Amino acid sequence: MARTASARRKGGLTGTAAELQAGGFPVNLVWRPQAGPQTLLIACPADDILFGGARGGGKTDALLGDAGIYSQAYAPHFRGMLIRRTYDELDEVVARSQELFLPLGAKWQAGRYTWRFPWGGFLKMRYLKRDEDASRYQGHSYNWLGKDEGGNFPDVRPLDKLSATLRDRNGVPIREIMTANPGGPGQPWIVDRYIRNRQPMVPWRDPETGRVRVYIPSRLTDNQALLANDPGYMRRLRGSGPSWLVAAWLNGDWYATQEGGVIKSKWWKRYAIDEPDATPLERRLALPPGKIVAWVHSWDTAQKDNEVNDYSVGTVWAVHETGNAYLVDVVRERMTYPELKKAATDLYDKWGADVVLIEDKASGTSLIQDLRASTKLPVKPVEPDGNKVTRAVSATLLMEAGRMWLPTRATWLLDFENELTSFPTKGVHDDQVDSVSQFLMWLRTFPLTHIPQVASAGTRMGLTSEGTAAPGALSEKRETRDAASRTRTPKPRSRTVRRGPAGTEGF
Ligand SMILES: Nc1ncnc2c1ncn2[C@@H]1O[C@H](COP(=O)(O)OP(=O)(O)OP(=O)(O)O)[C@@H](O)[C@H]1O
Ligand SMILES: [Mg+2]
Repeated sequence: MARTASARRKGGLTGTAAELQAGGFPVNLVWRPQAGPQTLLIACPADDILFGGARGGGKTDALLGDAGIYSQAYAPHFRGMLIRRTYDELDEVVARSQELFLPLGAKWQAGRYTWRFPWGGFLKMRYLKRDEDASRYQGHSYNWLGKDEGGNFPDVRPLDKLSATLRDRNGVPIREIMTANPGGPGQPWIVDRYIRNRQPMVPWRDPETGRVRVYIPSRLTDNQALLANDPGYMRRLRGSGPSWLVAAWLNGDWYATQEGGVIKSKWWKRYAIDEPDATPLERRLALPPGKIVAWVHSWDTAQKDNEVNDYSVGTVWAVHETGNAYLVDVVRERMTYPELKKAATDLYDKWGADVVLIEDKASGTSLIQDLRASTKLPVKPVEPDGNKVTRAVSATLLMEAGRMWLPTRATWLLDFENELTSFPTKGVHDDQVDSVSQFLMWLRTFPLTHIPQVASAGTRMGLTSEGTAAPGALSEKRETRDAASRTRTPKPRSRTVRRGPAGTEGF
């Protein structure tokens, strides 16, 4: 197109690019896909594509190139939108788009942040300052959507709202491309959606959306244009982040997690579970033989009652007679206050609990009062002590001592591990870290010497002292306890009699 434009200026060629293209003139001279992944991307007929996996592979260029080519192919009906998470990030893309689109004769409408192509069609350039901003696009319709660096979005929902704008009245097939690198806060949902149990380059139809998904990996080595023009790029990349992240960027490793942080995954022990969505009973059966002396829930609740942006997290722990703690369940949701209360009671109904730790601040304070007034949940308020990092560091002592055990499989596991090993990283949520720290701090003060004198909570939960299920015991005991919890009125708290783990406030 550079040649077209300059030729046009010299008066050698006339007509729009579409007319030139129809006449067999090769219009795309400013930008061509490089051999390899970029070419595969442009030719790929799937409509829900993840492109990337590594830094510098030519992802953003490929997005812009794809938009330019698609706009020509479906002129004049191209309706495109390209998004980034932040304004600064978007501006880099805008700068590159000017290099590519101005020579085509495209018009940049600065006030609207929109490209208008000479053959018709537009490409809006947008960023999502807040997740809620995605709702503003409700009712819009686009046939091409580019999400550059989708991994920078910790939550997939705003992106899905944008995908809902993909529709077309003119017979243009919808097309969506997301680029991403590993190591960002969106890694868990990207892995869930595009990577886990899937082969790269092998498309599949997603049963939920009916759309054809595919993951096209690209590496820095696929971007010869960059390596030739900027030989120092690789060296700079190596120096631009912690080693685990650089390795992930270079190798496109979607399972890489941070090891330079406060919490190290090598400290965690594992207990075996084959099924990621094993039932609560199967999870109980996977615990080691011996007594479970306490079932503990630990809640880190969102900042404000009405703050739906923040996650609330509940972790469920089985404390074994050896003092080891087994993580059996994690709930992590953005919840309104009524949903949070329901989640806390649901989790209690699912697992039972000897102690429900709730941080006594923000929505946690209301939750403590509310649960005490209207349920029999053994609530224990926890005063937050010190800042998050200090708390996490103290909690790591028990991890280092090998007392924290995680299952080998669970649907929530990758997300959980990523958050813990990334801590503390700006922009990455830390609610699960808080919930874990709160529990481990409690465990440090748990009087294991009292264990022989108390009935095993595991036994009450339908487990025999050997850790195996007593047939029929679970439902029977549950019914008895539930019935009891509905009828009994709470006993006044005793300050003199020390209770075992079966008590509500005794720890
Ligand atoms: N097809 C191409 N033709 C010419 N240059 C290209 C092409 N593809 C990539 N490049 C060059 O490589 C540079 C880096 O590519 P790009 O920004 O697309 O990589 P990226 O994968 O998005 O990188 P990052 O991970 O840093 O976001 C571009 O700025 C451009 O100079
Ligand atoms: Mg990029």
